[in-house]
Amino acid sequence: MAKTIENLEIEYQLAPTKKQKPNPNELGFGRIFTDHMFMMDYTEGIGWHDPRILPYQPITLDPSAKVLHYGQTVFEGLKAYLSQDDKILLFRPEKNMQRMNRSNDRMCIPPIDEKFALEALKSLLRVEKDWIPKAEGTSLYIRPFIISTEPFLGISPSISYHFMITLSPVGAYYKEGINPVKIAVEGEFVRAVKGGTGDAKTGGNYAASLKAQIAAKNRGYSEVLWLDGREKKYIEEVGSMNVFFKIGGEVVTPALNGSILDGITRNSIIELLKYWNVPVVERQISLEEVIQAYNDGKLEEAFGTGTAAVISPIGEFAWEGKKMIINDGKTGDLSKKLYDTLTGIQTGELPDPFGWRV
Ligand code: COI
Repeated sequence: MAKTIENLEIEYQLAPTKKQKPNPNELGFGRIFTDHMFMMDYTEGIGWHDPRILPYQPITLDPSAKVLHYGQTVFEGLKAYLSQDDKILLFRPEKNMQRMNRSNDRMCIPPIDEKFALEALKSLLRVEKDWIPKAEGTSLYIRPFIISTEPFLGISPSISYHFMITLSPVGAYYKEGINPVKIAVEGEFVRAVKGGTGDAKTGGNYAASLKAQIAAKNRGYSEVLWLDGREKKYIEEVGSMNVFFKIGGEVVTPALNGSILDGITRNSIIELLKYWNVPVVERQISLEEVIQAYNDGKLEEAFGTGTAAVISPIGEFAWEGKKMIINDGKTGDLSKKLYDTLTGIQTGELPDPFGWRV
């Protein structure tokens, strides 16, 4: 009989030696990893099995493992913080586990038990608590992911997988931090199309974005503004983030349409704005409308939202040789207020009227 996940116990293999903790002022993003990681395996006919916490280490993969050839993989990103009274805080982690299962469904990966995955994450965090940085603007970035491991070159869903969670102490995602970044509107490449995998958190979406990102960087821009894959008319995302515009007092973000990622920060921003009675709408928004708003002096702020950067204000858009400078290239009041409030809730420094913190 297949074992159910509820009766699985996590096995602990603890590292005999610990790494030196990094200088909290020199963290950057995603290059440093903690002493331990979580891992469990999936085998067809058995299900998910052998959950374990073990020393952070390279893993062995067959060169023909499906993930290496066909990219059957999903990932998530969330953060842990340490409160003033030394408690580990997570921000809406159940949403990440739910989204991981939606991505799994899209990528034909067997679902995880969301409750068990969250318990596994909490167990790992308890082991790695002293890796959670305390300095302002820092956190412990959590990377759950699943890779397909079956050694088979045929195109079909894998019959075996690894589910893993690694942890990385991080500072700001962009060197600019909460200072505005410069964005190039991407007119040639697209990130995703309707019916594709744009709303799944899967590696291929990010691989497909690199070409445009490098071209933008070579022109002095941090990221690109993605337009829809069919008409290249409507705005979808910015870099690897959701995007918001404040136009004439109203906040607008592209409605989820199948090719846009359902961001947890995006959702939290919408909820916060509603709570503050700031007008906010999710709808289709064209590049033309944003340019018109700029020309009319109504484009007050623009910002990207995501787990890694939280809020990343946009100071400049470049499109067909034209530059649109937003709010004199400075961080807007609303962007700043949203950043302060969201990070305040996440770190436990502000009250959490929504019950988002666990
Ligand atoms: C995020 O904003 O959290 C992202 O998805 C970026 C991540 C891929 C580093």
